[in-house]
Amino acid sequence: MNISDFQLRRWAKALAAVSFAVLGTLILSAQTDLTGYWAFRVKDGGVNFLQLQQTGDAITSVAPAGRGGGPGRGGSLAGTLKDGKLHLVSTFNMPAAGAGRGAAPGAAPAAGRGAAPRATVYDGVVENANRIAVTMTTTGRDPLKGAFERVTREEAYPSRIPPPDLRDVPDNGLARTPPMGWNSWNKFQDVFDDATVRGMADAMASSGMAKAGYTYIVVDEGWTSGRDANGKIIGNGKFPNMKALADYVHSKGLKIGTYSSPGPQSCSGKMGGGYQGSFGHELEDALTFAEWGYDYLKYDWCSAGGVYSPTREDNQGAYQKMGDALLKTGRPMVYSLCQYGSYDVWKWGGKTGGNLWRTTGDIADRWDSMERIGFAQIDIAKYNQVGHWNDPDMLEVGNGGMTADEYRTHMSLWCLLAAPLMAGNDLRTMTEETKSILMNADVIAIDQDREFKPVYRLSQEGKSEVLVRPLSGNAFAVGLFNRGDAPAEIGFRWDALKFDTGLYGFRRLQAQDLWKHEAVPTTGDDFKATVPRHGVVMLRVSVGGGRGF
Ligand code: GLA
Repeated sequence: MNISDFQLRRWAKALAAVSFAVLGTLILSAQTDLTGYWAFRVKDGGVNFLQLQQTGDAITSVAPAGRGGGPGRGGSLAGTLKDGKLHLVSTFNMPAAGAGRGAAPGAAPAAGRGAAPRATVYDGVVENANRIAVTMTTTGRDPLKGAFERVTREEAYPSRIPPPDLRDVPDNGLARTPPMGWNSWNKFQDVFDDATVRGMADAMASSGMAKAGYTYIVVDEGWTSGRDANGKIIGNGKFPNMKALADYVHSKGLKIGTYSSPGPQSCSGKMGGGYQGSFGHELEDALTFAEWGYDYLKYDWCSAGGVYSPTREDNQGAYQKMGDALLKTGRPMVYSLCQYGSYDVWKWGGKTGGNLWRTTGDIADRWDSMERIGFAQIDIAKYNQVGHWNDPDMLEVGNGGMTADEYRTHMSLWCLLAAPLMAGNDLRTMTEETKSILMNADVIAIDQDREFKPVYRLSQEGKSEVLVRPLSGNAFAVGLFNRGDAPAEIGFRWDALKFDTGLYGFRRLQAQDLWKHEAVPTTGDDFKATVPRHGVVMLRVSVGGGRGF
């Protein structure tokens, strides 16, 4: 067969065209293969790490459990990449009803503080093989603009650094009574700024809270944007000068606290993902906090679950590392452990230098959450030591999700437990009722009582409970709690309180109702009161002085 030059040229051209097309497709698909590790970053917000897998135009996410942020908390994302447009939808497994955020280490992401289930959608436009402009939309929240940026596996999921050998960190001498203050998380999550915190310091000083004993203003999650070129942790646009903020809070006669995590990131709030943690930078960060003048550190496990082994040794070691670092700075800083009570932290939290340790998952501003957490603390109250306290989480008083009776129960219970009292409401806009609960000096005095004897359960009948805490000065605090849904009569025998009655066994009791602010008669064998649903009657009973004793 005679093949003409012409035909040859046509074939060559066709071949070239086909090769070009094949090559083009290859290049295009190479550019748009999103398989790999990505960071979703939001300005002044958090970072969320994702591992994406692309098959054709279908995208799925694989995310190791225990990381901060949406999918990393146990859910996953799935969607498509079509014509350079990315569309991913979250497929969270919602936690059991009543579980708060962080209810269990490594738990699936919760819908939020009692909110309805949420869905998160990421819509993006591919800019190049390493960057996608993305808008994240979460039900009930303002959309967040940010970007997916390609990162290495080690950046997304760093390897474990073996924690130090376990030893006892010396006591820092702080928190001789349970710490009192305010923390941003319960009210604001991570949607707050420097001005909010200054406002809280102003209000703490002017509202009477400082006088009542509240001292620490704690900036919880949401203040960092990462690290500078030298590795130093830095504030974000909402917290441009953490040192100036500390100076301001100090100028009000108060102390200030900050927040970090033993993991690479914190847990994540409303702003797109987790924030910078101290993993691999523990001493450096402690020194920075000291240099800025901080007096308190809340150290929240969060993404540490993704790097450390799930053992008590790794937990204790990771907390000990920061406990040691804080001591090395030479600046007195209260050390607040937050790992939700894993591995019976009350048995070893003090060894890490911890002044307080969370014993539970997160509280929510609802009766069922507060009740479940509060009444589960009684058996471990004996682990409280001077300078080392069980922390059943921060107060919700004043946040609006409970009745005044329920908030009085919350406050009474926390004080009987000798719990840290960290207000979690907006101090700038407190009602008189909220003030009367948070600043009840008689109830606070029970929390801060220096006898440090643990609370115990005197009786329990159905939904009625009587809790007793021995106090200094030959006195007892008695809480009559009605956990039921209807008013109930609750009582106890006066002689159930084992007073030191002196040589002759003579006693004259005095009792004060600490919420009504009035004396109650102590004649007869017992005390009885009708307690409202979810309410409390709280007494301080002492042996009266005077003639004849
Ligand atoms: C955890 C803690 C909370 C709060 C948030 C921040 O859930 O238990 O107290 O610090 O993280 O994301």
